[in-house]
Amino acid sequence: MDKFVINGGKKLFGEISVPKAKNSYLAILAGCVLSSGVVVLHDCPQFVDVSKMLDILSILGAKVKKRDRDVEIDCRYISNYKVPQDLARQIRSSIFLLGPIIGRLKKALVSYPGGCDIGSRPIDLHLKGLRTLNVEINEKFGMIECEAHELKGNDFHLDYPSVGATENIMMAGVLAKGRTRIFNAAKEPEIVDLQNFINKMGGKIIGAGTDTIIVEGVESLSSCEYTPMADRIIAGTYLLAGATCGGDILVKDVKACHIYSLLNKLKDAGFDIKIKSDSIRLASSKRPVSFGKIETMPYPGFPTDMQPQALVLQTISSGVCIVTENLFETRLKHVPELVKMGANITMKDRMAIITGVDTLYGTEVCSTDLRAGAALTIAGMQAQGQTVVTNIHNIDRGYEKLDEAFCKLGADIKRV
Ligand code: EPZ
Repeated sequence: MDKFVINGGKKLFGEISVPKAKNSYLAILAGCVLSSGVVVLHDCPQFVDVSKMLDILSILGAKVKKRDRDVEIDCRYISNYKVPQDLARQIRSSIFLLGPIIGRLKKALVSYPGGCDIGSRPIDLHLKGLRTLNVEINEKFGMIECEAHELKGNDFHLDYPSVGATENIMMAGVLAKGRTRIFNAAKEPEIVDLQNFINKMGGKIIGAGTDTIIVEGVESLSSCEYTPMADRIIAGTYLLAGATCGGDILVKDVKACHIYSLLNKLKDAGFDIKIKSDSIRLASSKRPVSFGKIETMPYPGFPTDMQPQALVLQTISSGVCIVTENLFETRLKHVPELVKMGANITMKDRMAIITGVDTLYGTEVCSTDLRAGAALTIAGMQAQGQTVVTNIHNIDRGYEKLDEAFCKLGADIKRV
């Protein structure tokens, strides 16, 4: 099993670009199934989850061709409605293939999805939404069988603004008869990106980015070329690494408006933040002050996908910070690992109370999920001495050579 060996205590300097967004690319790849043409996506990131999604599309009958960082997906002859279980069980995004496959083939068979071990991750809202669009669904032996003789648009109110459920129902509505309105929709930027992609192929969606999305059903979608948005979570991870280790870094190809929730907290903590149209500079000159409070919330609140990385910064900031993880019931598994490194944290349910210490100390720690792994890597870069991060395969699910990216900024990390 690969691991990172990190010699900490190095400040970070220099500039770094951000790859395209995992959580946009995965939804857009599912959206390709809706197209009766050929889709070309640019600047495809080398994330493990993205390559797994491309494998699934090939098994469904799409012809997938990679050329450098472009990927061409010919969806004209998609015919297989069965998502392979072994792949579906490994990634969360397999569930939002349901909408597009049903839209195109009127049938779908998929297993319960996989994904990071950060909580129960139910799919009740996905299934309730599809049933509202006249899809018959049978769940047995861990498989979900769907059939829709005629997919019909309808109004659907989400009990919770679920990102995946919003995307799934939005995509199911694209080729349905009539109009679908989704109320209490998630407002993440990746959903706006998905809307723009589908509309470029001839879809008729409005309202993504607000809590009400309206989809007018169309006969079919054509070909298109598209470049998805930058990964705002990776941008935030880089900024939090610079904040935790100290130094002066420039993060390029990112929209500041997508991470205002983080930038405002970094400014309050005393960091010098300079925002340009597509880049953000962070410089630190003194010990950071605690954020005081971090409450993870749906967009535009503080993103759960940046909670572990922001929590690491709190362990060496002066003062006390209360971190509450409101979205996923077990997304604080990095806390015991940080305590092993000398962090002063007490836990209560979904809350972590952190009292800042001067520094962390290197030891062996285990990456439990994608963002926790990135957070522990940052902790090792700050710590005195050597840190070994094990189980790093889950970091590669959503980061492109994170070790090389940080070494470019001056960190000392070896993948062994
Ligand atoms: C997406 O997951 C992202 N994954 C996650 O990113 C991200 O953390 C999450 O949105 C929240 O922003 C992808 O886009 C591939 P949700 P998703 O449905 O769609 C409850 C990362 O690190 N819920 O918005 O699965 C659920 O229990 C990953 O990149 C239901 O109750 O998240 C949770 O409490 C991790 N029923 C809340 O909604 C449902 O049917 C948010 O989940 C669906 C969700």
